[in-house]
Amino acid sequence: MSLYEAKLSAAGQGTLPPLSIGSWQHKHVLDLDDFSREEIDLVFEIADGMVEILARDVKKVPTLRGKTIATMFFEPSTRTRASFELAAKYLGADTVSLDAVKSSVAKGESLIDSLRTLQALEIDTIIIRHPCSGAACIAAQHLETSIINAGDGCHAHPSQGLLDIYTMKRQLGDLSGKKMVIIGDIMHSRVARSNIWGTRTFGISVVLCPPPTLVQHGMSEMIERCGLNHVRIEHKLDAALEDADIIMPLRLQKERQPSGLIPSIREYIQQYQLNPKRLLRARPGAIVMHPGPMNEGIEISHDVAYGSNSLIEQQVTNGVAIRMALLYLISGGKNR
Ligand code: CP
Repeated sequence: MSLYEAKLSAAGQGTLPPLSIGSWQHKHVLDLDDFSREEIDLVFEIADGMVEILARDVKKVPTLRGKTIATMFFEPSTRTRASFELAAKYLGADTVSLDAVKSSVAKGESLIDSLRTLQALEIDTIIIRHPCSGAACIAAQHLETSIINAGDGCHAHPSQGLLDIYTMKRQLGDLSGKKMVIIGDIMHSRVARSNIWGTRTFGISVVLCPPPTLVQHGMSEMIERCGLNHVRIEHKLDAALEDADIIMPLRLQKERQPSGLIPSIREYIQQYQLNPKRLLRARPGAIVMHPGPMNEGIEISHDVAYGSNSLIEQQVTNGVAIRMALLYLISGGKNR
């Protein structure tokens, strides 16, 4: 039982106990590149307590009573939006859910003016998804209200990165020395980028396995320049999968791709689909993850997606606990 779980059970069923959040430095959550290992461990420790709350019949505590949390999504979402909204409700916050298509942005209002309107309504935290890389960072520069990035273009998806590493840790324990393989459309993947930053202090080695046309020109140099020496690129899937402990195929993000980046879907499936035969190249018991949405039959076969190695549904479940922990910490950070 973690320190936090012990405090939680000592406090009974009512509320979350006070927790030292001394290592937490964030007013906003924009990416994992500025998260220390201590901060990630703190998120995980609090998420362990949230998992306990989520196992109760009545999944509700009054910790964020009186706070208001808004979601503003300019791109489609199932998992991220639903789990942030559930997380806020389980912690007792009031929620406002803005569909960007029906907001005043559709009438020509700028993103910043729309967000300032939410700030004027005394929203405590705004959770934003936007197709432009950097949109959440720009919002954070202009607003006093806390911003959580729920995915901005190809840049970052920090809560997804955290829930992925949390899911790995709960399944595998110590992650030191483990090998993670991320397959497919690395070029357009904010999830890949946030996993790369998030895993850098865990002793995990990350192998990126994209088709040569789906990795940004100069990515190797970028990896080197940022000191991310736990990451390398291998274009041949069978070679990448040797001794893998964690495998994460990614969806081809056609909405962000100019045409012509892959010769054909049929060829992509032949060379990059994670199927039962390919899975045999990994370590026995290797875990299969996918951030979703999945395009079953393209980057992953049905048998692998729903097989015994798959933690894909567990990722979604853990997403609620991780997002509860982030909302709790962001709120506590503001009250200091
Ligand atoms: N992983 C993820 O961001 O899924 P959604 O697009 O459904 O939120």
